[in-house]
Amino acid sequence: MGHDKGFTYSRSHNPTVSALEARLAALEGAELCTCYGTGLAATTALCLALLSAGDRVVVSQAVYGGTVRLFRQVFANFRVDAQFVDTSDEEALAQALRTPARFLFIETPANPTLNITDIQLASRLARAAGALSVVDNTLLTPALQRPFELGADVILHSTTKFIEGHNATIGGALITRDAELHERFLFARNAIGAIQSPFPAWLTLQGIKTLPLRMARHSQNAIRIAQFLTDHDRVTKVIYPGLQSFPQFELAQRQQKTGGAIIAFEVAGGVEAGIRLMNSVRLCALAENLGAAETLITHPASMTHADVPAPQRQAAGITEGLVRLSVGLEDPADLIRDLDQALSNTK
Ligand SMILES: Cc1ncc(COP(=O)(O)O)c(C=O)c1O
Repeated sequence: MGHDKGFTYSRSHNPTVSALEARLAALEGAELCTCYGTGLAATTALCLALLSAGDRVVVSQAVYGGTVRLFRQVFANFRVDAQFVDTSDEEALAQALRTPARFLFIETPANPTLNITDIQLASRLARAAGALSVVDNTLLTPALQRPFELGADVILHSTTKFIEGHNATIGGALITRDAELHERFLFARNAIGAIQSPFPAWLTLQGIKTLPLRMARHSQNAIRIAQFLTDHDRVTKVIYPGLQSFPQFELAQRQQKTGGAIIAFEVAGGVEAGIRLMNSVRLCALAENLGAAETLITHPASMTHADVPAPQRQAAGITEGLVRLSVGLEDPADLIRDLDQALSNTK
């Protein structure tokens, strides 16, 4: 066999993608990373690399709707049994792990309820049960949360969000410190053809240069807006891990560097008022994405989580009137003005 330079075909390796992989691994405090065309392609590769028919996995009850759809409507057809549990409930988690599982998949904070799972505790319980622990770190990024330091085996990202940060690409990543797991991910990625393309990888490398600065500004803006919403008479509930009223405030303080950039809230008047709010904003954009420079507003029950069965949505706390705000990098005074005028239209 001849000696190649390490790059023979871009479905297996590509120099720009490798540069992104090295950067992401370093940011998470690891050495090994594989990048994918989307976050869901990363989740798909994870499953194909680790699961066989008849295997079981335990998944957080409140996760991104596409993750639920993948397990319920795709992998279920291949006899993979996914049990969705409230992973923030120690007893429920321990109970679910009593039956053998290949891995535990947690998303924390969860999209969109911001429910927090204690990563250290969950990873310890998973390890004791012989299961790998996988953490979806999309909502906080390594700038605000460090899952490997808390015992995780694999970190998953939708780089589409804060990692790239400008609403310009889609992409995903699997990061690990375990060479054997990494080999499996590489094999699955090549076998199914799910690698990231070089141009979005290059854009993602540009975005990463400002990641810590952006995450700090997103967080500062978010706490100001969360306080504004809390004081607003048209808002009945505000969920933000940086607020003292957040039920898991202490865990958030311990596990996360800040409250993050995502706020969930309910408007007086339920779904109708929520729809009026979303149609009245001028600066915030109505979109499915999160993690962009622009503030994005979403109605999870009809958008990101529409494919999650209604009973699971309710169990996960995704009420019909819940609004999700991905707070951007704008001047917070402008955002507050916009939200204030839109909220006044909900009466
Ligand atoms: C937390 C989380 N994980 C994974 C994904 C899937 O990523 P992608 O849209 O890049 O496939 C999303 C998408 O919204 C997400 O919010």
